[in-house]
Amino acid sequence: MRNQVWGNAVKTKIICFANNKGGSGKTTTCSNVAYCLNQMGKRVLMLDGDMQLNLSLSFLDEEEVLALAEGEKNLYRGLLEERDLSSCVVPTAYEGLDLIPSSMLMSEAEEILYRKGGREDILKKGLSGILEKEIYDYILIDAPPTLGIWVRNILQASGSIVIPVEASPWGLFGLANMITYIEDAVKRNEDLKVLGIVLTKVNTRKNYFRQTLELLNEMEVIRVFNSYIRIDSNVEWAQDNSKPVAAYRKSSRSAVEYQELTKEIEEEISKQS
Ligand SMILES: Nc1ncnc2c1ncn2[C@@H]1O[C@H](COP(=O)(O)OP(=O)(O)OP(=O)(O)O)[C@@H](O)[C@H]1O
Ligand SMILES: [Mg+2]
Repeated sequence: MRNQVWGNAVKTKIICFANNKGGSGKTTTCSNVAYCLNQMGKRVLMLDGDMQLNLSLSFLDEEEVLALAEGEKNLYRGLLEERDLSSCVVPTAYEGLDLIPSSMLMSEAEEILYRKGGREDILKKGLSGILEKEIYDYILIDAPPTLGIWVRNILQASGSIVIPVEASPWGLFGLANMITYIEDAVKRNEDLKVLGIVLTKVNTRKNYFRQTLELLNEMEVIRVFNSYIRIDSNVEWAQDNSKPVAAYRKSSRSAVEYQELTKEIEEEISKQS
């Protein structure tokens, strides 16, 4: 299917969710923004870029995820064999929301990519067939908590980056490294725009939430989204049920917050494109 608006082909927008700090809310944000975009009528492909398989587990049950991880239809096999990644796409329970699952073998991605020619553009090449077909409005990529050649591939293939930061005393730890890495990535990929930082797992009653927000605003390097995501046990219950939180409990506060964030991301992308 070809998406058409007033006779012009719609260009697929690629957004990655990255932060080298572990547990900052990358996967949760990627999965929920993908679902919210889909609920807004967009066709979305998610790409699980992490050997922890968390994005895949957010939509499929464990047995299925493990079978896919050991089979042909996963990111690792696609990259290793430099295939057109459309051969790795699997559907989710939601019409128009698809997934390229991961594999535990993604732990070897650095070594494998290092040995390949054009090693920073392997993902971009793998996605080119999908982009040409213009099947999706968005491709959302969940990055692992690392800063190596694989994440470089993700940044080379992306048009935008969202940085989830945990609003905790250690949330900003390592962010300076990440910012330097992104500045370098922007020099290599002129299409890459930094959309902003989103604060996750926020407890508004704790001082460090305000302190984190003030520090980020003072840094003035990257804008901070107005929307933030508060701590909500529904997020974990939803993940335990392989569902996005808005599908699990539509009226929960994190579901509403993710809907607001998604609108803000869409607005920011439309301003920049
Ligand atoms: N708003 C929230 N409320 C409660 N728990 C949350 C919230 N957001 C994320 N979590 C929990 O925090 C943990 C880390 O979140 P997530 O997996 O999204 O981070 P990550 O950055 O992808 O981690 P990693 O770096 O390991 O890939 C998960 O257990 C998730 O369920
Ligand atoms: Mg993750």
